[in-house]
Amino acid sequence: MCGIVGYIGNKQAYPILIKGLQRLEYRGYDSAGIALLNGDKLNIYKTKGKVSDLKRFAEQQDVHGTVGIAHTRWATHGEPNQVNAHPHYSESEELALIHNGIIENYSVLKQGLKEHGYSFKSETDTEVLVQLIEFFKKTNNVDLFTAVQLALNQVVGAYAIAIIERNQPDIIVAARKGSPLVVGIGEDEYFLASDATPIIEYTDKVVYIGEEEIVALRRDKQLKIKTIANVEKTPDVKKLELTLSQLEKGGFPHFMLKEIFEQPKTLSDSMRGRVNIEENNITLSGFIDNREKFMNAKRIIITACGTSWHSALIGKYAIEEFARVPVEVEYSSEFRYRKPVINQEDIVIAISQSGETADTLAAVELAKSKGAFIFGICNVVGSSIPRNTHSGCYTHAGPEIGVASTKAFTAQVTVLTMLAMMLGKEKGFLSQDRYLKIVHELARIPDKISEILKQNDHIAQFAKTYTYAQNFIYLGRGYNFPVALEGALKLKEISYIHAEGYPAAEMKHGPIALISQEMPVVVIASSAGMYEKVVSNIQEIKARKGRIISIVTEGDSVVKNMSDYSISIPDTEECLVPLLAVIPLQLLAYHIAVAKGCDVDQPRNLAKSVTVE
Ligand code: G6P
Repeated sequence: MCGIVGYIGNKQAYPILIKGLQRLEYRGYDSAGIALLNGDKLNIYKTKGKVSDLKRFAEQQDVHGTVGIAHTRWATHGEPNQVNAHPHYSESEELALIHNGIIENYSVLKQGLKEHGYSFKSETDTEVLVQLIEFFKKTNNVDLFTAVQLALNQVVGAYAIAIIERNQPDIIVAARKGSPLVVGIGEDEYFLASDATPIIEYTDKVVYIGEEEIVALRRDKQLKIKTIANVEKTPDVKKLELTLSQLEKGGFPHFMLKEIFEQPKTLSDSMRGRVNIEENNITLSGFIDNREKFMNAKRIIITACGTSWHSALIGKYAIEEFARVPVEVEYSSEFRYRKPVINQEDIVIAISQSGETADTLAAVELAKSKGAFIFGICNVVGSSIPRNTHSGCYTHAGPEIGVASTKAFTAQVTVLTMLAMMLGKEKGFLSQDRYLKIVHELARIPDKISEILKQNDHIAQFAKTYTYAQNFIYLGRGYNFPVALEGALKLKEISYIHAEGYPAAEMKHGPIALISQEMPVVVIASSAGMYEKVVSNIQEIKARKGRIISIVTEGDSVVKNMSDYSISIPDTEECLVPLLAVIPLQLLAYHIAVAKGCDVDQPRNLAKSVTVE
């Protein structure tokens, strides 16, 4: 995680850097800092807290300079305080470095540097790296670029870095391995960032820096890119498709609420050109291009983290139901280390909103090395996972900025459903009749979500009564079990209320002991899917005086009458219920968090893009 921004050109760097940091704050927000080159001065300003704190502080200082680097941090080594914030100076204060990632062998390197007389002010691995670069620069008498190259040859771990030098006002050197970095190309100026959002308003020409590549950004000069192993690379200039309005709140108090309300549109975008009602058809090019691979697959493994892992579970239910291919769903962090059995006939699907999650990226690499075919389902176009998979499809949900994922989840479920349907149809397990029904229902989902969103005020009203709660249980069965997990995750993430998602019938094997008058239980009891069985589970909770919030199908009165509060969703096919049932759960978590006064878009300790393992 952590966000990196850099600028070199003829404009004042400070406003560009601060604005860029604000765009990247989703990547971490426990401290922030900036380094500016101004004449023979190399000024560093940093603060604990958010970018707004840095801004307040920096604006009382000299923020002149046309070259600078800036950083917003998600702490890994050392607590989030001013000393550990980036940028870090080298021993002589000639160099300043920012870093996203983890230097795994930092303690060995630090020890070596101490023996050469270097001292350290912070507890960070980053300070070790800047000292190491200085050490190589001085002992080998080389330029900054070469010193970075030499130092990175010693480093084990993941990084995206940017470094500037006091006596070199015409260069920023940057490098990456495992953490993302993109360069924006302007007129006699370059921008540097962890993703394209800080760059978009200045240029649409970008170069994504590749794995283990080092780049020199120099005013008026072509980009120079070399690998750490010293192989020259030609910059591959791409055009950005992102627009500025996609990055703004558009009148909503929070990005999360905006993104929840965007879902009718984002799902239409996800289905555009793919779900064709006139022809009663689904055409997912990711599937068509790899039809044989999918048809011959003996097994599908889906790997993901967090919310994406929940969508993977729904994908498993759909693929197994429609296509009768066994599907295993894996946490990427477990998969990558537990010596999994991966065969050449396996398809590994990696799901990731950001396309940058370190564990998922590592799972992709592992599966690739075993000869499996790797298919990515990602949201951020041009991110690392789509670039490292054999094929895949984008979810097209647009930039998701709220740390708690909402629209990316529904877009992932939509893509997985389309994939399952195509595979099921081609394999002959999904009847034409059922296929057509689902195609038609899928096309109606955006309107049905709009209907649910009309209950926003009702949800906001009753959400206030739950701010007292310390714990919540979420229950669902079948396709709604992963929705229960996702609902619980949303509440945990943004309201800090402990919440557990459970398969409704499992409740009696443990969680039922927790049920009391104090315990709110959210139950997804849609009429499609094991309704009667879920009603029995609700009876068990009522008998123990639990407080029920239910998600029911329109027209249901049985469960509604048993509930303290209930939210209705339109009827649909069972496999599509998650796309509707999750909407009230997103709103419930959002309104409880708002009523508790929590920072909804930037919950404590979290980051949107987890580029460290
Ligand atoms: C972080 C985010 C979650 C996200 C997870 C996986 O924990 O806070 O919202 O679900 O990473 O991210 P990915 O980008 O791979 O979907």
